[in-house]
Order: sequence, then structure tokens, then C-alpha cells
Amino acid sequence: MNPPPLSPGAFAPPNAAELAVIARLLHEGAGIVIGDGKASMVQSRLAKRLRALGLSDYRSYLALLETPAGADERGRMLSALTTNVTHFFRENHHFELLRTKVLPPLLARARAGGKVRIWSAGCSSGQEPYSIAMVLCDLADDIARLDIRILATDIDPEMTARGRDARYDAASCETIPAALAKRFLTHDGDGARLCDPARSLVTFRELNLHSTWPMQGRFDIIFCRNVAIYFDKVAQETLWHRFEATLNPGGWLFLGHSERLPADAATCLVTAGITSYHLPFPGQGTETLQWR
Ligand SMILES: C[S@@+](CC[C@H](N)C(=O)[O-])C[C@H]1O[C@@H](n2cnc3c(N)ncnc32)[C@H](O)[C@@H]1O
Repeated sequence: MNPPPLSPGAFAPPNAAELAVIARLLHEGAGIVIGDGKASMVQSRLAKRLRALGLSDYRSYLALLETPAGADERGRMLSALTTNVTHFFRENHHFELLRTKVLPPLLARARAGGKVRIWSAGCSSGQEPYSIAMVLCDLADDIARLDIRILATDIDPEMTARGRDARYDAASCETIPAALAKRFLTHDGDGARLCDPARSLVTFRELNLHSTWPMQGRFDIIFCRNVAIYFDKVAQETLWHRFEATLNPGGWLFLGHSERLPADAATCLVTAGITSYHLPFPGQGTETLQWR
């Protein structure tokens, strides 16, 4: 049977060979795996790129990507294909754990002159690091005096730019608890902007998690939620080990709701809540950390 005719201005989704090339480029660029049968997903995400470039088929688009002039477009293609869904206080149990268990000892350390470093890896447009920042500021009126910083990184420069801008539409702000919204949002047109001190705790940088990490020093808390789910198993395992090596003793790792450290991951991280993991201090028994 012939496929239905395309409406004017529409173009056919990628064929199997074109889809395989796009999948390879996505894997090489971001470590993300897409299976067969994703032609309509690719079509829905890339159609706007083809239209913007005035192209009418994937053959011409892939040809463009192969040229030196296509280097920028490769980045835009990755941006278009990555899933950026996020919201403030997503998986709120993590923020409850931060508030009640994780942050109080870190704040005590900061008040004693120590530093605290937090990393939101795969931060999308900033709602995750700013949720952490609001909880921190809510717990610590003296935050401006403390050496506490949140690094927020994403492979997608459009996302880090949005995070830096810190402006969100009204619907996006609805998941912020009212008391925090009142304190940390200023109205801006039909939306709102994060304001200090929460905003200035966060620094945004572009970073591919599969590349070399330029950060010096270790982190006390790493959030990497709903990011590794798109990676293959080998890339995930590599990432768990790199996170472990990047955490301070006593540090915490938070994953997304459908991500788990596998039992055979061979890390020293122990489960300490829902998709929450803790790196024991040297000599600390793991049994004290198994709490809910
Ligand atoms: C679904 S969002 C998750 C955002 C946030 N962590 C959350 O849970 O709400 C996944 C983010 O991971 C980013 N990402 C995908 N592959 C990446 C990679 N290789 N390195 C860094 N970030 C990546 C995407 O650009 C996207 O913004």
C-alpha cells in the first residue's frame, strides 16, 4: 500500500538508512541511544530544523551535516533531539531529603569555614539547580556569608542560556511551594524571574558528560536525574564510577525516578533513600545509612 500523500510543505520522515545516520551522530555527540522505530520522534523534533534551513528532505540535511559548514548544525541537531523536560521540585522527595538530612550537616560545615559544592549534571533549563538553591537559602539566612556554590551543566547551550536567564513562565512556577515562590521570585511580564540570593548561588556551564570534566575539586552532592536513562549500559556504568570518584567522602548522588545504580555496579555508594545514594566516610559502616 502506498503511504498517504504528504500535505504541502510537509516532508517524509527519515528512512531507515537516514535514521541510522542520525542515531549514530546522536550517540557520538551525546552518548544517547535511540532505537529503531523512532522515525516519527526524530521527525517531530527535527522538522523545524529542516524548515529553518529551507530543506525538504533528510538526504539534503545529512549532506549538510557532513560539510564543514554543518558543524554548528550538528550542535543544533543534538539540541533538538535531546529531551529537556524538567520542572521545579521534580521528584520532591529528593528536596525533602536535602532539607531534613543532607544539607544541615553541610551547612554546619560551611558555617565552620568549610566549603560546599553541589553539581546539577544535565540541568536542562535550570529548574533543578534553582530548586536546590531555594531549599538552601530557605535553610540558611546567612547563605551569602557561606562558601556554597551550585554548578549547573548541560550539553545543550540553549538550556544553559535559559538557566542563566532565570526567567520562567507562570505555569512553570506553579510547582514551587508558595512560601518559596513568594521569597525567591520577582514578577516579570507574564512570568517570573528567580532572584537573589538563590539565583547567584548557581553557575551554568556547557558540558558533555562523556567528555573530560574540567572541574577541580570534588562535590558534596551530585544530582544527575533523568539524564543517564538515555545512555547505553556501558556509558551509564562509566558515569557511576566517575561520579563516585568526584564525590567527597560522605557525599550524595541523586538519580531520576527510573534510574538505579545496579547491584553489580561495584561502587562504594550505598542506597540511602529513593534513587538516592551516599558515599560513606572512610570507616563508616553502611548499616547506619540504610534509612528511609
Ligand atoms: C530530561 S532532562 C533532565 C533535567 C533535570 N535533571 C530533571 O531531572 O528535571 C535531560 C537533560 O540532559 C541533557 N543531556 C543529555 N545528554 C547529555 C550529555 N551527554 N551530557 C550532558 N547533558 C546531557 C539534556 O540536554 C537535557 O537537558
